Amino acid sequence: MLEHPDAPAVVRALAPDEPVILNRPHAAARAARFFATKFPGKSLYAVKANPSPDLVQILWDNGITHYDVASIAEVRMVRGVLPTATLCFMHPVKTASAIREAYRVHGVRTFSLDTQEELEKILAATADDEGNLAADLRLCVRLRVSSEYSELSLASKFGIDLADAAPLLQATRQVADWLGVCFHVGSQAMTPFAYVQALERARAAIADAGVVIDMIDVGGGFPSSYPGMEPPPLEDYFAIIHRHFEALPIAYNAELWCEPGRALSAEYNSLIVKVEKRRGDELYINDGAYGALYDAAHVAWRFPVRHLPRGGSNDNAAIDVAEMQEFSFYGPTCDDADFMEGPFMLPAEIKAGDWIEVGMLGAYGAAMRTAFNGFGQGDVVTVSDEPMASLYTGRKDPRVSDNVVSLR
Ligand SMILES: Cc1ncc(COP(=O)(O)O)c(C=O)c1O
Repeated sequence: MLEHPDAPAVVRALAPDEPVILNRPHAAARAARFFATKFPGKSLYAVKANPSPDLVQILWDNGITHYDVASIAEVRMVRGVLPTATLCFMHPVKTASAIREAYRVHGVRTFSLDTQEELEKILAATADDEGNLAADLRLCVRLRVSSEYSELSLASKFGIDLADAAPLLQATRQVADWLGVCFHVGSQAMTPFAYVQALERARAAIADAGVVIDMIDVGGGFPSSYPGMEPPPLEDYFAIIHRHFEALPIAYNAELWCEPGRALSAEYNSLIVKVEKRRGDELYINDGAYGALYDAAHVAWRFPVRHLPRGGSNDNAAIDVAEMQEFSFYGPTCDDADFMEGPFMLPAEIKAGDWIEVGMLGAYGAAMRTAFNGFGQGDVVTVSDEPMASLYTGRKDPRVSDNVVSLR
């Protein structure tokens, strides 16, 4: 793969007419080392955030040994890249054939569930040809918890309600070699208290069921840094989770897991787009709602941007703040819905023929490209500069956060 120092160098070398994805392997490696060494338990990478085989290899090389996979295609991909990784099938609604292939062919032993029907499906799909039940299943019951502290809710679709959890935990305990409780507080949790609240719900479910628990999985939700969304340091999250985990009524040797997707992948990618047209404060660019900017269009996510003028200076910092202006974007398809409100702060002088680098697109960005309307093509190159923001460079001033937490 071609390697360049940064986005301006890519524009100078390629003058790209199609969007270009920029990979930053050093940033993903740094995030992996951070979780592998600082999270007080096991960190699983949630592959859905960015199912790039290159990224999965980088994470493995830097200490991530476990992978949260949610489809049989993700199981096959990760197993193909990493023959000895531990794969955990954490989607609570799976097809029987996917469970069977994962168990028999790819060595998956850990599955999540949130209903009695899913439990029975897992048991049937993993039984041997004589109908004997598998004796080595590691099963996680997913609880429904609040998403109130997170930017993207995951509270509606999956998870059993606290009131119904005890019978499912008891039934699962009967057949599981190892029993976990998992949940997801929603993506981009802006304060560690999201996990405190969820762990309290886990405590109530465990006490109600009166079963031995071997593992607590606090899921994903660990934030990254975006304009207007500056989270507290991740160490705050880890410390509070650990403290509350230690106080749970669980087996003395119970494990603590987490499943970060966004936090491990956001800094891996940015994107260069070309401005095709300007209409007042609206810029028509060549990626959008059906591409890597899916979240910018569908949930009004604000990503950081940087102007890359044709043949000019490339440093936003060099431009007087007074010359910056708020812009919205239209994507390349014929759809009115291909619109990203922003606002995206760019120099007032920006014009058709210029380029923009959109940062922090490694999570739920680069993975979202489709071929709708014939778009979605473009190069992928590697760059060596820093991402537009980072939770891992150690240069962050915790006072910048809106949600600083005292650990005393
Ligand atoms: C079960 C599960 N685990 C982990 C994740 C990753 O979440 P995040 O990217 O917020 O860390 C998701 C995201 O949808 C999920 O559904």
